[in-house]
Amino acid sequence: MKRILLVDDDVEVLVDLRNQLTPLCPQWELSFAHNGLEALEALKSSRFDAILSDLAMRHMDGIELLKQVKTIAPGAVRIILSNVTEWNTGLQLIGVAHRYLPKPCQAWEIVETLNRAFALHDQLMEPRLRRLITQIPSLPSLPSLYMDLLSELRSERSSTTRVAEIISRDLGMSAKLLQLANSAFFGLSQQVTNSEEAVMFLGVATVQSLVLSMQIFSLFEKAKTTAFSFPDLWQHSWKTGLVARKIAESRHQPGLDPQECLTAGLLHDVGKLVLATSMRPRYEQVMVAAQQSGKPVWKAETEAFGSSHSEVGAYLLGLWGLPDSIVEAVAFHHQPRYSVAIGFDTLSVIHLANAMAPVKSPGRPERGSPLEPAYVAELQVSEDLAGWQNMASTLE
Ligand SMILES: [Fe+2]
Ligand SMILES: [Fe+2]
Repeated sequence: MKRILLVDDDVEVLVDLRNQLTPLCPQWELSFAHNGLEALEALKSSRFDAILSDLAMRHMDGIELLKQVKTIAPGAVRIILSNVTEWNTGLQLIGVAHRYLPKPCQAWEIVETLNRAFALHDQLMEPRLRRLITQIPSLPSLPSLYMDLLSELRSERSSTTRVAEIISRDLGMSAKLLQLANSAFFGLSQQVTNSEEAVMFLGVATVQSLVLSMQIFSLFEKAKTTAFSFPDLWQHSWKTGLVARKIAESRHQPGLDPQECLTAGLLHDVGKLVLATSMRPRYEQVMVAAQQSGKPVWKAETEAFGSSHSEVGAYLLGLWGLPDSIVEAVAFHHQPRYSVAIGFDTLSVIHLANAMAPVKSPGRPERGSPLEPAYVAELQVSEDLAGWQNMASTLE
């Protein structure tokens, strides 16, 4: 049973939401609060899986409420319902709410958004991991790429293409920018699946204010690690993205978007970044043990944390509202047979590309992820495999 708290100072809105949501989701327990203080009281005495709050309320607005929810109920999904149009308010929302739904909001939109968050939520069995991920405001970026972006944005002739090019090479910046571009706040009618589109839609001026004034991106702290290397993760992720784009291009398949495959490839191991930055040094120990035993990393992670980097990454990206096809590819890239999708799709591309872009580390043998033979056989691509493998070995 999922428990949802709805907060609005307009009684009619709450009554309307109750009437619409109750028949659609009999499996949910709905609770209601008429202002921020009432909501905080409810949160202190009971556990909630999601909080949906209005923005403009008397005494305490939705932003202030959700800021406090972050601390009181860190594992809960936070959603703002509002018809706000001011740019600055919208930008403030990004730090505290996982999703933004415009008002008046249809009940099915709420149901769809929450069901999606809960489906990913349920894959993460470990409550500590869920709490950790719901609290992540941004992912760290590679310092050299971040510096490149700053100098490009500060230059008098900063170009959209160059800004997009730098962002599209970085896991943390790409994930965050796609969260913004896919937020309903920006009012885009279609889903944005790659950094170039995201920069074009938002505009260089917005990206400039997001990066320079709002500081939406962060850097990872330099730490001496032996079993996990951030630059290696970047290199492997970028190469997986490039191989994925090439595979998709070679298929000429309607509906299979090479740019989306580039993004999914770049982000497929984003869960490793989450685990490595928020659970070190435990993650370091798990990586050492995996290397010594020769066990696949995702298996060692599951044994240690209850979930692997695939589920962790998918949960974060799903929570941030990235397109389903990307979230799905991230979730199942090591075990594609568990996906319900049929046919050659973005997930298939990422499963193949990940195996063809082995992680290079000085002093250690190159290790690629194994392909699932039964799944690959079903795709009927055996004639193309050697060609793709050759192409992958020439890419850097
Ligand atoms: Fe992986
Ligand atoms: Fe990988």
